[in-house]
Parts: sequence; structure tokens; C-alpha cells
Amino acid sequence: MNTSTKRTDPLLDTYRLGALHLPNRVVMAPMTRLRADLDGVPGDLMATYYAQRAGAGLIVSEGIAPSVAGQQFLTEPGLYSTAQVEGWRRVTDAVHEAGGRIFAQLMHTGRSGHPANRPDGGTPVAPSVVPRTEPVHTLDGKVAPVAPRALTLREIAETVADYAASARAALRAGFDGVEIHGANGYLPHQFLADNTNLRTDAYGGGTTGRVRFPVEVTAAVADAVGADRVGLRLSPGNRQFEMAEHDPAPVYRELLRQIAPLGLAYLHVTEDPVHPALADARRDWPGTLVGNTGEHEETTPESAAALVAGGRADLVSVGRPYIANPDVVERLAAGVPWAAIREKDFHYTSGARGYVDYPRHNEDLVAPLT
Ligand SMILES: Cc1cc2nc3c(=O)[nH]c(=O)nc-3n(C[C@H](O)[C@H](O)[C@H](O)COP(=O)(O)O)c2cc1C
Repeated sequence: MNTSTKRTDPLLDTYRLGALHLPNRVVMAPMTRLRADLDGVPGDLMATYYAQRAGAGLIVSEGIAPSVAGQQFLTEPGLYSTAQVEGWRRVTDAVHEAGGRIFAQLMHTGRSGHPANRPDGGTPVAPSVVPRTEPVHTLDGKVAPVAPRALTLREIAETVADYAASARAALRAGFDGVEIHGANGYLPHQFLADNTNLRTDAYGGGTTGRVRFPVEVTAAVADAVGADRVGLRLSPGNRQFEMAEHDPAPVYRELLRQIAPLGLAYLHVTEDPVHPALADARRDWPGTLVGNTGEHEETTPESAAALVAGGRADLVSVGRPYIANPDVVERLAAGVPWAAIREKDFHYTSGARGYVDYPRHNEDLVAPLT
């Protein structure tokens, strides 16, 4: 055994996660790749991509729209139509046949939506009318952002129900569970953050009001599919998409206090360069903690192993390395370094290139490009 294998050994330990037995501590982090069709339906290319990565202890899928209103981009997959459920079934079957496990990440874009990025051309919805200022990507290039509409109380209840319905659809599609995307500036985060939630009703104001929507979504999804099949992703302090939280600690402490009794499968927390997000979560969360180093610092074998070995997290999610290494875990076991991404421009394009054409460490052939 070489020294590189030794350093990363903690990642190769097994773990019991809710109803699942994980063969290792590596979670493939959710990564949007925009390879669905214009109806949000996954095809064979996506089945190939995820099956190639089935060596992960757990795969968390790319963000999936739980409703038309939640859609961030055209060609982002959804989980609200029969065709989408059937498309995802091909993906989950392929992952299971390859020996893997996969959760669906439910991602509602909220204020970051745009009529040009929604199949129905609708106006984005959000806690409050606080538009983004940065241009928005569409299939026709960058366009000016559009101000969102504030959700009514009735629409909030409908949105919570959409998450629950989408979670049920995920299980029908063969997923092993769902992760609620409450991080990185998406809708639940927009309720938590003070710059995007200016509401004066029960869903805004102080800490209790701001945590209400994420708590209701989590409880509804847990009720729909069973808490041991549900994870929640949070990124306290994260400034992506112009988010600003002036004092995240008390808000997240209250959120975790309220959802802890549900008995979720896990909490997934992204480390922040300024706010001690992971340390706070470790202190306040009694259950399984999945750690991620955050986008400011790409995960390495050493940083991933250190999170688990140091007890800062039980599992570690690995994102960008999974783009260029379908066999992240197998490389750890063999002491083979992770390959670098060749072409960043292919993160969000269509087609096989930069998506399913990265070889495993013991293959020299690259799959044919289409
Ligand atoms: C191309 C790309 C797409 C991403 N899409 C998502 C997403 O859909 N949902 C999410 O929660 N995080 C998303 N992320 C963030 C990753 O899950 C992860 O937190 C981040 O890449 C940092 O981990 P890493 O250093 O291992 O890459 C994305 C990151 C990248 C690079």
C-alpha cells in the first residue's frame, strides 16, 4: 500500500445512511450539467454519465426543478411530469445496475428564474421583490434579469406541496431518496437571507419567520417519502447569486433546532471562507453530516480525507473532481491522482463532449464523441 492510499483511507470506510449501506464515505456532489431535453426529460446520455460514477458511496443528482416555476434553465431536468419520471427511471436503473445509489436534488430557482428559461414563460417567484442585478444565462445568450413576484401565502403553501409531490415522483422514478437544495442562493436560502426576504408576514421578519419556509418544505418532503430518505443542503453565509446574510449563525441554529426531531438521513453543509459553517453544523446537528469544502477551494483527496478523519464530517461530497474522474473512489483506493478538467466550457453545454468522455484510470480509450 502506498502513502497516498493511506492518507485517504478514512474515505474508504463503509457507512450506514438511513436505509442505505454505503460502501465508502464519498458523496458525488450535485452538479448542474444541463443535458436534459427542452421538456426537462433526461435521456440515455445522462444515464451513461451517472452510471459511470456509480462507485460513489452516494450520488446526489444535479439540481432538478420540482415545478415549472422552479426551473432555472431550459435543458435543466425536472421532476413534475410523467415523461420526466420515466426519463429519470432510465438513469436510476442504470446507476443501480452499476451498483450505485442516487438521491435526487430538488432545486427551486426562486428569484433567479427568467421567463426565457421557463417552458411556460412565467415570471419568477420569490419571498420578496428583490431582483438580481447580474445578467441571466439563456439559450440565446445573456439577458437582463427580471424582477420576481412575491409569493402569496397561498402560493407558498402550493410551493411546499410541489416539493412533496416532486419527492414522491423521485421515488417513483427509482431514486433512493431526495436532497432539498436549501443552499447557494436558491428558494429556501432566499427565505433565510435578510437581503432577499423583506416579508412582514409569518414567513419573514425575525429568525422564526425566516426559517418557516425551509422547515415546512423539509417536514412536507419527509412526510411524503420518509425522513430517512431525505437530506437537506445548506450553505450558511454563501454569497452566490448576490445573497447576503449579515448574521447567519442564529438563523441556521434555529433552523437545525426545528428540523432535528424529524430524523433526516443527513444534513449537507458547504464550508464558507468567512463563516464557520461546518463547525457550527457539527455543534448544532445531531445526525449525519455531509461536508463540502465549498467552491472557493476545489476538493482534493487530502482535503476530503481530512474532513472525515478529523471528525468535521461523516461523509464528504466531491464535485468538480467528478467531472474529470468517473472513478473518484477507485482512484483513491488505487492511490492514483485525480485527473484535471480538460475543458471548462463543457460544464453547461449539450452533448457527450466534456461529459461522458473522461476515461477511468485504467482505461486509455476515450468514449467516442457525438
Ligand atoms: C458545474 C457545477 C454545477 C453545480 N451545480 C450544483 C447544483 O445543481 N446543486 C448544488 O447544490 N451545487 C451545485 N454545485 C456546487 C457543487 O455541488 C460543490 O459544492 C462545489 O463544486 C464545491 O465542491 P468541489 O470543490 O468538490 O467542486 C455545482 C458546481 C459545479 C462546478
